[in-house]
Amino acid sequence: MTGGPRDGRGVASTGGPSEDRGVARKRDHLRIALGDADVGFTGLTTGLDEVRVRARALPGHDLADVDISVDLWGRRLAAPLLVSCMTGGVTESGPVNRSLAVAAQEHGVALGLGSGRVLLEGAADPGTFRVRDAAPDVLLLANLGAVQLHAYGPDDCARLVDACQADALVLHLNAVQEAVQPGGDTVFGGLLALIADVCARLDQPVVVKEVGFGMAPEDVAALAGAGVAGVDVAGAGGTNWARVEGLRDGRAGEIAAAFGDWGWPTARCVRYAREVLDAAGSPAQLIGSGGLRHGVDALKVLCLGADLAGVARGLLAAGAEGPAAASRAVGALVAQLRVGAWAAGARTVGDLGPALLE
Ligand SMILES: Cc1cc2nc3c(=O)[nH]c(=O)nc-3n(C[C@H](O)[C@H](O)[C@H](O)COP(=O)(O)O)c2cc1C
Repeated sequence: MTGGPRDGRGVASTGGPSEDRGVARKRDHLRIALGDADVGFTGLTTGLDEVRVRARALPGHDLADVDISVDLWGRRLAAPLLVSCMTGGVTESGPVNRSLAVAAQEHGVALGLGSGRVLLEGAADPGTFRVRDAAPDVLLLANLGAVQLHAYGPDDCARLVDACQADALVLHLNAVQEAVQPGGDTVFGGLLALIADVCARLDQPVVVKEVGFGMAPEDVAALAGAGVAGVDVAGAGGTNWARVEGLRDGRAGEIAAAFGDWGWPTARCVRYAREVLDAAGSPAQLIGSGGLRHGVDALKVLCLGADLAGVARGLLAAGAEGPAAASRAVGALVAQLRVGAWAAGARTVGDLGPALLE
């Protein structure tokens, strides 16, 4: 999943002059994330390599006895895994979402769709977000930038969830990504109250996520207090969204240059978030994501306290290749998690916790 060494400068926007700005941005994100420019962190890592699982030579039961299924928000998942929110709106995103939907259905994992802002604006091809027919049983999450809540209220959020036939709404927080791009949306004052309002008025569960720089413990506490059903820390060490924006625009690149190692490494912010949610007695689900490369990384975030492990860019290329490749990649992820859980002595997700770590 990691990008190659090529310098990404000169990766020009492909959007024509008349193309909606949001649509052009989504098109560029997909192209850059699939390209060979380096969009990772400069030196910072997720910290997951320092987390060691207590490998058991005698798991004590058969691999066939391992059941890592979970029930979440009215859906049954075969494994506590999420294909994190990525794309939608531009023509080329439709087949990607559909491939990932086929894979999610086949392997019983949750699926997030990319930001539906362009859908609310009427600028997008709505078909690119419609995957329910390919994934009738999947826990499906619609997505919107939290900063858009200044323009769109709970009724618009409900409209988005309906249009996607989703089970839940994910609101993303992307302060640095917005701030590095010229004309980005940086009015983050008052957002917590707007998030609380959506949580109170939407029928479906609301999750709030970062996009790869992680969340401070005080942010997790504030979101739990606002009534979110889930928090996805989206920690640092995977895709660096300052660098992605830097590849889209030279001026953004000058600012982004300082943010190559910004943020909370995934392992650390999952641990902190678990402590905060437990201390608050919060029922919010914790999603651990950001730079997960395989099922053993997923196992580690689950042992650190996450209820669900999310992977974004690590599954993008397979999604772009087609349903067979996507299904192979998601199937491998599930198998890796299952084998790892077994080889750590676990039988169910209830067994996954700090006791399985060195
Ligand atoms: C091509 C691409 C597009 C993305 N678009 C969105 C989006 O629309 N909404 C969102 O919340 N996150 C979006 N993300 C962020 C991911 O959900 C994830 O939080 C982030 O990439 C870190 O995870 P990773 O290191 O596994 O990629 C996108 C990621 C990728 C790779």
